[in-house]
Amino acid sequence: MKKILVATEKPFAKAAIDQIRPIVEGAGYEFALLEKYTEKAQLLDAVKDATALIVRSDKVTREVIEAAPELKIVVRAGAGYDNLDLEACTDKGIVAMNTPGQNSNAVGELVLGMMVFMARNSYNGTAGTELRGKKIGIHAYGNVGHYVAEIAKGFGMEIYAFDPFVAKEKIEAAGIKALDTVEELYSTCDYVSLHIPATEQTKNSINYDLLNKMPKGGTLVNTARKEVINEEEILKLMADRPDFTYISDIAPDCKADFEAKFEGRFFFTPKKMGAQTAEANINAGVAAANQIIGFLENGDETFKVNK
Ligand code: 3PG
Repeated sequence: MKKILVATEKPFAKAAIDQIRPIVEGAGYEFALLEKYTEKAQLLDAVKDATALIVRSDKVTREVIEAAPELKIVVRAGAGYDNLDLEACTDKGIVAMNTPGQNSNAVGELVLGMMVFMARNSYNGTAGTELRGKKIGIHAYGNVGHYVAEIAKGFGMEIYAFDPFVAKEKIEAAGIKALDTVEELYSTCDYVSLHIPATEQTKNSINYDLLNKMPKGGTLVNTARKEVINEEEILKLMADRPDFTYISDIAPDCKADFEAKFEGRFFFTPKKMGAQTAEANINAGVAAANQIIGFLENGDETFKVNK
């Protein structure tokens, strides 16, 4: 029997597994689960007879691909697929997919949740600030950006967005001011929420000059990827701008420097948890399982991300 493997170092909620398993078994495949693995060797062993693979941020490297001679499809249950070696997949004729939009609301809620937490001084009892009337800039208006805007509207924020890949008309139809340049976004907004993927073009692109354009009291919110931040330069900015706050769902490599120097001006979740809700896990996990079956049974390549 062909095997569909779910391999997640950070497990899905049980409610998601309870829905994924019957989809897989109901279609006549074996369901296999590898969770909370600590060694790469465990993943290499689990994939050796897998026909299909569902992962989250797990690294699907060339080594993993080469350890899986039966593999036909890998689905990243989530949006960002920078953890998949697409070239290795293409070389082996393996289809790679993501599940766009499925966990976006969860990430959007975390953005506003962390903003309130920091605006209220981590609930330490002192007077904080409010979000109403403040300007939020959405850096890349995709699925998550859409939800951030929806939720921020409820808070009474003024909403701006910059995305060179989305028509201004589409952004403005959602009641958002679409800006022409990234510089304008940063110089206009009290809060900037990052929603860019980690690519060769975006890595290290959030730098000192850009962040220094933000108004006094500016806050950067990162639920995207740590790689897009120039860490050396954000540390310099934090030192030069005592008014600046950094909130991130992905702790930077230089977390110890923040802890040593900038107490009260940053917040990092202990583990990336933007998509850590039962709903997001169910949405993304079920979509991944259905996409795999659609591909194996009917050759459906919707959501394919490699060439
Ligand atoms: C995504 O790209 O979908 C998010 O970053 C969620 O990642 P996760 O599944 O590892 O939580």
